[in-house]
Amino acid sequence: MMVRPRPSEEIVVRAPAKVNLILRVLDRRTDGYHNLWSLMQTVGLEDELRYRLRHDSRDVTLRCDDRTLPTDSRNLVHVAVTRILEAADRQVGVDISISKRIPVGGGLGGGSSDAAATIFALDQLLGLKWSPEEMARMGAALGSDVPFFFHAPTAIVRGRGEDIQSVRLTGQRWIVLVNPGFPIETRWAYERLSQMRSTIPPLAPELLAMTGDTVVGWENLVPKMENDFEAALQSTHPILGELKQALLDAGAETALLSGSGATVFGIFKQERSAAQSGEALRRWAGCRAYVVPVVTRSPFSQQGAAFTSVACG
Ligand code: C5P
Repeated sequence: MMVRPRPSEEIVVRAPAKVNLILRVLDRRTDGYHNLWSLMQTVGLEDELRYRLRHDSRDVTLRCDDRTLPTDSRNLVHVAVTRILEAADRQVGVDISISKRIPVGGGLGGGSSDAAATIFALDQLLGLKWSPEEMARMGAALGSDVPFFFHAPTAIVRGRGEDIQSVRLTGQRWIVLVNPGFPIETRWAYERLSQMRSTIPPLAPELLAMTGDTVVGWENLVPKMENDFEAALQSTHPILGELKQALLDAGAETALLSGSGATVFGIFKQERSAAQSGEALRRWAGCRAYVVPVVTRSPFSQQGAAFTSVACG
């Protein structure tokens, strides 16, 4: 009797970048991490990840079109797969390929988003039926920014990154992301910030008052946008201040560093002026500029266009 091979399944998931519309770094905790207060937002720059289950092997194989990234257990996606299979007690192999679009070490959460996409993809492929909270908990063990992606597109993030409340951001804006072409290591940026400041300014009362029920409008938000890393990194990386000024000169309502850098982004009301600004900034030596919309839907939902399931015989 001929035994038909089990159908292997394949899923393609698009993993969006994030920006920090507000990033306050507060006190250092006993576990060495810092308490944060951040308003995080996904934007339309995405990595694409393809996952295929294998029933004939237990290997995890990873391919990536960015040759500078490791594809072994130093890659967060690889670590995520191993942890998920362990937690779910499943003995299968997984082939993954990543099309990398989000700059690495850019403060755009690319590695974290890829890890979140991996949790979502394996939940689907293995039929685990984890809730978003369970997926976020698995994500928290992989990196501080991972849980946010299960509460995106917009959320207030507190604590080390695990205390998250989705919020509604009304109106539409375009974002120009400018990456200067070099990475900044997150751990180093936190150390630099600790050395540079003698006091931590308290959280503004309007931020303290924000909850998951708060509806935020762009007009009110723009004047409140700030990032504690900006001042700390200005002297070591003057180009970050120059890019911010260039975005403002090009008509951005405001411009800010994202995360611990090195990407700077500008907020624009109109796609046309965003596109013109992106064009001008692409002429800066070594810089990459991306003109993207603010994302208004949740990244990993079965209804969302970011998710495709392919069954192969
Ligand atoms: O968790 P993640 O890998 O993103 O963090 C990288 C490093 O950034 C940590 O090892 C820590 O030094 C620093 N960090 C921090 N406080 C946070 C997040 C990160 O001090 N809330």
